[in-house]
Amino acid sequence: MGVEKKRVLVTAALPYANGPVHIGHLAGCYLPADIYVRYLKAIGKEVLFICGSDEHGVPITIKAKKEGITPQQVVDKYDGIMKNAFKSFGIDFSYYGRTSSPVHHQTAQEFFRHLYEKGVFEEEVTQQYYDVEAQQFLADRYITGTCPRCGNPGAYGDQCEKCGTSLSPTDLINPKSALSGAVPILKETKNWFLPMGKLQSTPAFQAYIKRFEGWKSNIKGQCASWLNEGLQSRAMTRDLDWGVPVPIEGADGKVLYVWFDAPIGYISATKEALLASSQQPDVSSLTWQDWWQNEATELIHFIGKDNIVFHAIIFPMMLMTHGDYILPSNVPANEFLNLEGDKISTSRNWAVWLHEYLEDFPNREDELRYVLTSIAPETKDSEFTWKDYQTRINSELVSIFGNFVNRVLVLCDKYYEGVVPLAFDFSNSVAYEKIEASQKICFEQIAANIAEMEQDLKEVKLRDAQACFMNIARAGNKYLADTEPWKLVKTDEEAVKGILFDALQICAKLAIAATPFLPHTSKKLVGLLGLNQVSWQQLNAQVIIETGSQLAKPEILYKQVEDEEINKQLERLQQIKTSKTQQPSSSDLAELKTNITWEDFDKLDLRVGKVIEAVKVPKADKLLNLTVDLGFDKRTILSGIAEYYQPEELIGKLVTVVANLAPRKIRGIESQGMLLMAGNDFGKLYSVSPEKEIEPGSVVK
Ligand code: 2FM
Ligand code: ZN
Repeated sequence: MGVEKKRVLVTAALPYANGPVHIGHLAGCYLPADIYVRYLKAIGKEVLFICGSDEHGVPITIKAKKEGITPQQVVDKYDGIMKNAFKSFGIDFSYYGRTSSPVHHQTAQEFFRHLYEKGVFEEEVTQQYYDVEAQQFLADRYITGTCPRCGNPGAYGDQCEKCGTSLSPTDLINPKSALSGAVPILKETKNWFLPMGKLQSTPAFQAYIKRFEGWKSNIKGQCASWLNEGLQSRAMTRDLDWGVPVPIEGADGKVLYVWFDAPIGYISATKEALLASSQQPDVSSLTWQDWWQNEATELIHFIGKDNIVFHAIIFPMMLMTHGDYILPSNVPANEFLNLEGDKISTSRNWAVWLHEYLEDFPNREDELRYVLTSIAPETKDSEFTWKDYQTRINSELVSIFGNFVNRVLVLCDKYYEGVVPLAFDFSNSVAYEKIEASQKICFEQIAANIAEMEQDLKEVKLRDAQACFMNIARAGNKYLADTEPWKLVKTDEEAVKGILFDALQICAKLAIAATPFLPHTSKKLVGLLGLNQVSWQQLNAQVIIETGSQLAKPEILYKQVEDEEINKQLERLQQIKTSKTQQPSSSDLAELKTNITWEDFDKLDLRVGKVIEAVKVPKADKLLNLTVDLGFDKRTILSGIAEYYQPEELIGKLVTVVANLAPRKIRGIESQGMLLMAGNDFGKLYSVSPEKEIEPGSVVK
């Protein structure tokens, strides 16, 4: 049954081009994909490894607005930054595309049109918020309002970031357009929906989901929960001005849903890869259809867990309803990587950015690859800490692998001026019984670890695979420790030569086995061993480095990570955590809002108020109901500060009030103003209060 798989098409999630990449991205998606691809290539598979920038979607337009530049300028900037970071870390894409490219636009449009002409979509007219001033429909993110759950006045139309609730724009209390500040109206609009509920019950889809059986349990779990709930139709077009225009009549001002066009980016990038094939030796003479529309290709998507439904359900549904495409054979999704006890967060700058790591730790890319693979969130969320980074490098990469290789190279340099010595047959005399036994155990262990490593690589258990790699170095160290050639050299030169000959073969095996995990080191070690070329097939060979060949001058593979280097990183994070103003990093500077005019500012009526009553709002953990004396008026103001202030602490306190904010109802209570608070996402909120006693009602200006 089934067609023989001749080649593998590996994709890695197209990262959004609205910020740089961090260690979570690397550990969760790009590094595992790269290790797997390097392994496949090493065993001689024909592989295409596709990625690129995801350049559409609302967050990019928001970023552009905030920075006062065009969305195209935003994506041009981050496309370059991301591409460079990936390259430095050795993520060896066959091709890195971008979804703003003409080939992509055309491919995505053709795909959409094909489904449209097949009558796949349901046309539906729905009511969407529309900004009359800005004359455009508002994407969910462009609508803000008060969260019906926690009272946060800055909730978005798709989610309240304070309490984490998923929302629809119509759930928001007092919705406002983030574009103009106007109150949006509901207006009818037509969009094209993928009838996912209907497609779910088709025999083709039911046959496809049988594949999940062999997939990782996190995928199976998530998909089962979606499928059990029953899939809902989802709009594949949006009323937005940034994206791939919807290529049918009557769809002016609409673009394809970003999750419709993004995965098609894998297809467009494949086309572009083949167009550029003169510079792409690994792409051979195949056509893009060979890669996408031929059962002899195995399609594998590497992603993070937030992308599961799109890659395991929605994209396959699109491919299936199109009819010409193959479906994924596997979607090895990873969980999330946390940083020093907290979720990685771009907006809070809680991350280790790859471009910053490269500056702080130049030429130490493999060190980060090693650590991230050791702690890869393959089955559950995992944690990066700088202390652990230091320990893993110093006590594993430096002390086990680096040290073994260095000892062997230094001894060979010292005893034989780097010329590879003769092998020795330790079975020729009982005098060598002990060495022979050590040698046997060592090579048995190495063979077993190589076998296990290969099996793990095949099954995409990369953490375990890398652990086997390190065990090879451990076995080498043990062999040297047992046989002590540096002592034996005084009495038995031939035996020493034999031991070092063996040790050099182990170094060569390590150089080969390191290829998927530590490509920079592998290359360096191959050079140090004087080998021109190595192949994965030599891993089990007895002799890889020939007697008489010349080694290079010894050089260390890794240097120790010093306490100061780690402390510097920890201090940076500590600063982010405690800084009241939240020092923005280069990546966060853009978060500043766009300039306003004096007239804009002057519209605010800010007054000093005195809190005269404060009580908790029943069933709302975060809300306080305050009565604030403004001198000329007493106001009821609801404020989401219950986590930070006990009601009694506030009584008698002077506060700053936005006194002319239009009243709005929260939890059935009309709030007649807003208190100003300073703070960031980490710590307490602090009331912005006058430093000296001043009469309530005083103007803040
Ligand atoms: O989550 C993300 O970063 C998305 N840009 C991933 C897209 S993957 C694919 F569909 F292109
Ligand atoms: Zn909320």
